[in-house]
Amino acid sequence: MAKVTFLPDNSSCEASSDLTLLEIAKINDIPHVSACGGEGNCTTCRLLILEGIENCTPETKKEKILIEKAHTTKGFRLACQTKIDGDVTARRLVLDADDIKDMSFDRQGETKKIAILFSDIRGFTPFSEKLTPYDVIFILNRYFKRMVKVIENNGGRVDNYIGDGLIAIFGIKNEKNAPEYAVKAGLEMCEEIDDMKPYLKTMYGKDFDIGIGIHWGEAVVGDIGSGESKRFTAIGDSMNFASRVESANKQFKSRVLVSDELYQEIKETLIIKDYMRTMVPGIDGRVTLHEVEQINLSKDLEKLEKIQKTEGGYNWQKCGTIESYDKNPQQVFKVYRESVLVIKAEGKFFAIDEKCPHMNLSMKGGIIDSKSGSINCAWHNTTFCYKTGKVKEWLALSKSQKFMAKIFLKSNKQAEGVLDIEPTDIKVYPIQELDNHIWVGVS
Ligand code: FES
Repeated sequence: MAKVTFLPDNSSCEASSDLTLLEIAKINDIPHVSACGGEGNCTTCRLLILEGIENCTPETKKEKILIEKAHTTKGFRLACQTKIDGDVTARRLVLDADDIKDMSFDRQGETKKIAILFSDIRGFTPFSEKLTPYDVIFILNRYFKRMVKVIENNGGRVDNYIGDGLIAIFGIKNEKNAPEYAVKAGLEMCEEIDDMKPYLKTMYGKDFDIGIGIHWGEAVVGDIGSGESKRFTAIGDSMNFASRVESANKQFKSRVLVSDELYQEIKETLIIKDYMRTMVPGIDGRVTLHEVEQINLSKDLEKLEKIQKTEGGYNWQKCGTIESYDKNPQQVFKVYRESVLVIKAEGKFFAIDEKCPHMNLSMKGGIIDSKSGSINCAWHNTTFCYKTGKVKEWLALSKSQKFMAKIFLKSNKQAEGVLDIEPTDIKVYPIQELDNHIWVGVS
């Protein structure tokens, strides 16, 4: 069997012609740098062949390109691409003390297909210009707390924060359906910001929105940095492209845009509102971007087919059996993108928005008065007609309650706005009783 001698430590071992020089080094516990894990995607495993170059297999296509890019001198070969059929002496690339420290078999970087999500706040500068720095940090942290929770609940991880923007990556551990969960996270982030808006408006007299861009592409992932600041991150053209997708939201006045690569990967799960062709810096020609309205995860598709239908201009969804309301007369359902409260009153069924238009708090648990046909939002005592959605009484706080509220809110002048929001009717949805089920329609 052929023999390979690795310098500078002069370690010799037998070399099977089926294995690359990198694999031979690994098997024989000879430390060797290979930042891409031996995939032929970097040049860190290069060797200078001192003797026996004629016993090395010819350069692979990948190797030729990389060696050319790396401007190496003659005699260098990539250990991960080279096999031998005769004796060889090779010097590993150890140029300085850092190379010695890096000589481990850990995968220091690898190319992966991941979903990359960029989000940015729209209008944060005008929102924050009159606020104190403490308020700005408070709001940003409150915002990020909600967004990070959504990202992590969907299997993603925050890669970085850039001012008021963030980058999240999905699929690092080859999680199944990572692009689907990235889109789900993006849509849920929009719901979170909608949920925050009444609070922002009340506290600061204005609110802000977000834009999200998602791309599915290859990136190099690995630990970057040193010491305490070392962190796992992703780099590459795909990251830049995802950021461009996000920026296109400004041009199209959209909220969630995805690249065509991501769309093609999971198109059967997406409900698309619109698509657009646009120029993106750094890319030749136009690219197609898709504005996402909704996603139905592939694992739910079969189930949803059985409980959803389109009819008369509405998208209908089954919302529980008729009998289930005897035990539980108020039930909340996610009907497409809407959160709906279905109630049973006077022996009939009604569907209204689950969120009160005053402060976006849940209507579930409100007192139903079938005599007057009303439901009450317990938070600030507002009453709506559950048949038409009209406001019957807005913020019916007693004098002493109002007085207490003002005292309670006195520390923050703007918070008094809780009591000043204009009366707004609640949304109502059409109902069908069919197949022993309640169906709710959304347009
Ligand atoms: S949230 Fe419903 S009345 Fe305030």
